[in-house]
Amino acid sequence: MTSDPVRLGVAGLGRAFMLMVPTFDADPRVKLVAAAAPRQESRDAFEREYGGTGHETIEALCADPAVEAVYIATPHQMHVDHVLAAAKAGKHILVEKPLAISMEDADRMVSAARDAGVHLIVGPSHSFDPPVDLAARLIESGEFGQLRMIQALNYTDFLYRPRRPEELRTEEGGGVLFSQAIHQIDVVRRLAGGMAENIFAMTGAWDPKRPTEGAFTALMTFQGGCFANLTYSGYAHFDSDIWMNDVGELGQVKKAGSYGGARRALMDLNPDDEARLKTTRTFGSGTTVDAAHNEHFGPVIALCDRADLKLTPDGIEVFGDTERSFIEAPFGPAPRRTVIDALVGAVRNDEPPAQTGEWGLASLEVCHAILQSAASGQPVALQRQCRTSQQEPTE
Ligand SMILES: NC(=O)c1ccc[n+]([C@@H]2O[C@H](COP(=O)([O-])OP(=O)(O)OC[C@H]3O[C@@H](n4cnc5c(N)ncnc54)[C@H](O)[C@@H]3O)[C@@H](O)[C@H]2O)c1
Repeated sequence: MTSDPVRLGVAGLGRAFMLMVPTFDADPRVKLVAAAAPRQESRDAFEREYGGTGHETIEALCADPAVEAVYIATPHQMHVDHVLAAAKAGKHILVEKPLAISMEDADRMVSAARDAGVHLIVGPSHSFDPPVDLAARLIESGEFGQLRMIQALNYTDFLYRPRRPEELRTEEGGGVLFSQAIHQIDVVRRLAGGMAENIFAMTGAWDPKRPTEGAFTALMTFQGGCFANLTYSGYAHFDSDIWMNDVGELGQVKKAGSYGGARRALMDLNPDDEARLKTTRTFGSGTTVDAAHNEHFGPVIALCDRADLKLTPDGIEVFGDTERSFIEAPFGPAPRRTVIDALVGAVRNDEPPAQTGEWGLASLEVCHAILQSAASGQPVALQRQCRTSQQEPTE
């Protein structure tokens, strides 16, 4: 075993990469050695900051002998080609959520990684958040009895953040299902052990100017009898962060007076202006977020026989039979350190993470099932579910 930092190449220097910059900068277990980006300014900014090589194509990045593992942070529709390229080159892979848009592509990616003998990790997603990990371990320990029900909800401004046009077209992976539900599904599956059985859902696409799903509610059942309710709205009115002590999704303290900012910034913009506005949030031009708490994905309550567990950005509030208590999930030293734990564990110690390619494929199946159930008005049975690789079957 070597303790050298994992030498990482990055594909895509956009918003997702920006959100990982504080992690990469603060965690000595990983070193950025190369990047692939179509825009020269991004490549130059990367080389200035990290001193590695900026490549024009993913193929050149994957052929770079300095690169041990590739972080794929390109738009959803490119994940399949980029994962296949990295697997072909024998590199371990961290790919942004969602794994893919279609189940067929997801299958090809999982097979390619398996055939190449490389680890495929799907993330970061909020199932990596330390309070989620802590709650999952508490539930698994059985200390509070059987898990019976989960309630997860999140009200955000997602639909009104600056978008590329395809991010507003469902068939191309746009809308809240592929980008946001996937987080909530990952969190709920992680808490309930992964093996979802059925979905009954409704979706809403209520703004004709942004004609993709902006909201949904889904009921989900799990092997063993637990059931969950997942509700999400990205319509930028109510903000459920007020129920998370005014801590935002990224662990930042929310500024007073910021209400309405997302919709205001988009007023009177045409699609080209909006796509340009999006690039001002990417590497080389955007600013990073200063987190003071763990990340979260809205209020989540897990009801067990002997206690309700409420996830907060700082840990778990335990509402027991006769007493309330708090179990801390420490923040730091780096944000998203659990993503680097997974990467280092996979690359250095050959340990599969909780969120493998198979796991990401199972969460993607739930996104499609929500869309299918909403369209048909019928429950949908799930066929491709799996446990986290770290969990033993309980039956
Ligand atoms: N986990 C999170 O918190 C989080 C947050 C935002 C986005 N994401 C995910 O990250 C992915 C990217 O989303 P985004 O919002 O960062 O988009 P973005 O448009 O900001 O960034 C994508 C980047 O990929 C680059 N790119 C395009 N084609 C490329 C190619 N062939 N090779 C290399 N780079 C290429 C673009 O120039 C752009 O900089 C999506 O799958 C999204 O779901 C995750």
